[in-house]
Formats: sequence, C-alpha cells, structure tokens
Amino acid sequence: MEATGTYIVEVDNVSFGYERHRPVVSHLSFGLQPGRVYSLLGAMASGKSTVLKLLTRLLKPNSGDIRLMGIGIWDMKEVSFRRQVSIAFQYPDRSIFATTVYDEIAFALKMLYPEKKPYYSAMVEKALMSVGLNTSFLKRNPHMLSGGEKRKVSLAAAIVHEPQVLLLDEPTAGLDGRSTEAVLRFIREYAQENRVVLFTTHNLEDIDIADVVMVLHEGRIHYLDKNQIDYMDFVSYGILPPDFILYERWGKYHGYV
Ligand SMILES: Nc1ncnc2c1ncn2[C@@H]1O[C@H](COP(=O)(O)OP(=O)(O)OP(=O)(O)O)[C@@H](O)[C@H]1O
Ligand SMILES: [Mg+2]
Repeated sequence: MEATGTYIVEVDNVSFGYERHRPVVSHLSFGLQPGRVYSLLGAMASGKSTVLKLLTRLLKPNSGDIRLMGIGIWDMKEVSFRRQVSIAFQYPDRSIFATTVYDEIAFALKMLYPEKKPYYSAMVEKALMSVGLNTSFLKRNPHMLSGGEKRKVSLAAAIVHEPQVLLLDEPTAGLDGRSTEAVLRFIREYAQENRVVLFTTHNLEDIDIADVVMVLHEGRIHYLDKNQIDYMDFVSYGILPPDFILYERWGKYHGYV
C-alpha cells in the first residue's frame, strides 16, 4: 500500500481472471484514503476497468479481500454498499438505459433512498448542473445525446446520491478541452468532505489533479511520484506519452528546440 493511515477502501491480495489460467490482476493490494483523488493508468487491456468492477462488486475476486471501512464488501447488504460506492462506466452507451435524462439520473435515488422522494428533483438538478449540463436536458432521451453529453449524464447518475467512494472509468474520454477541465475540477471538488475518487484515464494530462498516480502493469499496481514524472517512464508500462512530449523530444533530437 502507498502509505499508512485510515483507508476507506482496502484491496488486499486480490487475484482475478475471467478465465481460469489467465489472471488479469494478481495479488493486488492498495488502499484509498479519504479526501484524495487517485488516478489509475495502464496500457489498453491492462485491467483498469476490471479493477473498478471488482471494487464495485460487479466481479468477485478469485482470492483476496476488498474491504469498505473494514468490512468485506461481499458481506455487505446491497443497499448499504451501493449507497457508499458508485461507478460511472467506460462506455455510457452500454450503461444508459432510461428514456429520459431525469429517469437515468434519478435511478440510484429510487433504488437507494425511497424516503428522499420529495427531494428527487432538486437532487437530480443539482447533479446535472454539477457536471455542467442545464435543466433543459432533463426531458431529453439520453440515447440521443452526443458522446460527451452521455458521459456527463452517466457521471451525474453516479453522483446524485453523493456516494463516499466514486469510481470513474475514463471520465474524460471523448470530451473536449473545456469539458475535460470542468470534469477534472468536479472530481477535485468531489473528493473533499472525506470522499475518495478513483478514476482511470488514457490522458496523461489528467493526472495533474490526482494526489496519487497509480499504474496497472502486468497485474500489479506501481506508484509514480507526480512531481518527478518523466513521461518516457510510461513507455515501460506500455503507455504512449502525449504527442506534444514526443514532438518536443523529436525537436530536441534534431536541435530545433
Ligand atoms: N467480460 C470479459 N470476458 C473475458 N475477458 C474480458 C472481459 N472483460 C475484459 N476482459 C479481458 O480482460 C483484460 C482486461 O480488460 P479491461 O477492460 O479491464 O482493461 P482496461 O485496462 O480497462 O482496457 P482499456 O484501456 O482498453 O479500457 C483484457 O485482456 C480483456 O480482453
Ligand atoms: Mg477500460
């Protein structure tokens, strides 16, 4: 684990594979502390989404434990677990199911907080605004939205009930610069008040807002010191640095800069 202290989430020696002899993660251990933002990088197919699905109890480890505030997540009741841990998936097209944006976002409230019914519209609106969409979206069909809008609706649906642990699978994929900035700012703010956010990304610039940078490589977590990152280090983990780094190196090599 990266440091001692109180962990909200503890992943303890977890191994998992979709097929018997092909582990995706092996003996994985890490912890998530409150108030912090964690970014999880890794080459394509390194297992990032799998880790988030294990943390969300959508997949069950073959061995090892995942604990939420000291309790094994598989021992928890569905409602109490889902109130605390939420995910926005990598592919909103596959997870969006409702016919209005309102119903899509209100779903978690209906499942988890029936007693809060009088506050649903206020909570849905708050969630929508916090991801940078206005209330004109509420009646629209989420399937008809642009890719970026769908991603924001999925994000709103994941945070409407204000879970303590927020897992975001590629939250900035397909967003333009301005939307990316807004989502990253949102993530940063969300992690206050003792919450924790773990997000995966392919975009190395996104790690700026993270407190902890983790790389998943060959089934293990590696920690990087954000202040001493040499982008070329990522190559050894199968991650290509951003173009501007490559061009800068190219320029230096040829004596242009
Ligand atoms: N449902 C599944 N059944 C079988 N194999 C799967 C399944 N889902 C993922 N895999 C395999 O598990 C490995 C890890 O996939 P995963 O989606 O976790 O990677 P990832 O790091 O999120 O990739 P990406 O960067 O492309 O999103 C891959 O080899 C993938 O083919
Ligand atoms: Mg993935």
